[in-house]
Amino acid sequence: MNVLVAGGAGYIGSHTVKRLKEAGHNPVIYDNVGRGHREVIDILKVPAVIADLNDRPKLLAALRDHKIDTVMHFAAYAYVGESVDQPLMYYQNNVATTVNVLDTMKEAGVSRFVFSSTCATYGDPDSIPITEDEKQLPVSPYGRSKLMVEHVLKDLQVGWKDFKFAALRYFNACGCATDGTIGEDHDPETHLIPVILQAILGVKPGITVFGTDYPTKDGTNVRDYIHVDDLADAHILAMEKLDTLKTVFCNLGTGNGFSVKEIIATAEKVTGKKVPVTFGPRRAGDAIALYANPKRAKDLLGWEAKHKNPESIIQSAWNWFKDHPRGYGK
Ligand SMILES: NC(=O)c1ccc[n+]([C@@H]2O[C@H](COP(=O)([O-])OP(=O)(O)OC[C@H]3O[C@@H](n4cnc5c(N)ncnc54)[C@H](O)[C@@H]3O)[C@@H](O)[C@H]2O)c1
Repeated sequence: MNVLVAGGAGYIGSHTVKRLKEAGHNPVIYDNVGRGHREVIDILKVPAVIADLNDRPKLLAALRDHKIDTVMHFAAYAYVGESVDQPLMYYQNNVATTVNVLDTMKEAGVSRFVFSSTCATYGDPDSIPITEDEKQLPVSPYGRSKLMVEHVLKDLQVGWKDFKFAALRYFNACGCATDGTIGEDHDPETHLIPVILQAILGVKPGITVFGTDYPTKDGTNVRDYIHVDDLADAHILAMEKLDTLKTVFCNLGTGNGFSVKEIIATAEKVTGKKVPVTFGPRRAGDAIALYANPKRAKDLLGWEAKHKNPESIIQSAWNWFKDHPRGYGK
């Protein structure tokens, strides 16, 4: 299929472009590189349009020129804290921009859409592991912006009969391409595994663990760490599944929860180096434990995470970070 990957120069988008190419599809990156990396385009050697998704003539031309069948939409802002400080920026780029993408797709007659949603749409869940039937009460503008798009997608399907979509709710994306060619580079970096590895490499002074008195196995927060290649594979399966299904809502996680202390210990084992850690008080807004029930993705898409333990995930990230301690080209 010809796939427009909006946000394809970013972390998850770039890994999906790589997997799409390997699977014999034709990905086209569409990214304004505001938070992405031009280097990715050179490394992946795929057609790319460097433009904003709000540039309607350019987006329309990209959809038509490349005879796009499916849009995979990764482009968004994705910092919870930033969304609290600058909510309008989040509603603008995550909601209004997505509406523009969908409207332009409609004009071009492109009717298949795979959307990056998030476990943040669940807010504080009533029960874990989290199923897709959990109530969705997000606690940040970021989570709300993603939930709003889920509503837009459902509403759009009512009047646009050909429109098909998959909304994939990821848990904590992590890891890097196992061949070390592309990796994770956010600025600022807030994700646990990169921060740990950058602390080991001396790029960051150390890491702070927020809260050691949670009612979990060792007192620290528990999360579901899902390898970026597993996420990429799920997108491809979801896209293919839209041949027969009109609507897909799925969690993407391993179904296993690991604590912050377990991740630190695994990073020390993989790298053979000590992590400089400071223990601090709990941070407002951090849920105790979040992990997925991934059954629906298995039943619906035939997808299951291949990286089920943090060791292989951290090994893949270490392969990248030890050669790129400050990310692409820095
Ligand atoms: N990283 C995670 O753990 C995680 C978890 C759940 C959901 N998500 C979602 O997955 C998606 C990808 O996350 P990521 O970590 O790869 O983010 P990222 O910031 O690395 O990538 C996003 C890309 O989108 C581009 N972009 C943003 N706005 C754009 C616009 N208006 N026009 C053109 N390009 C634009 C950026 O330049 C960047 O390359 C996001 O939608 C995020 O909300 C991420």
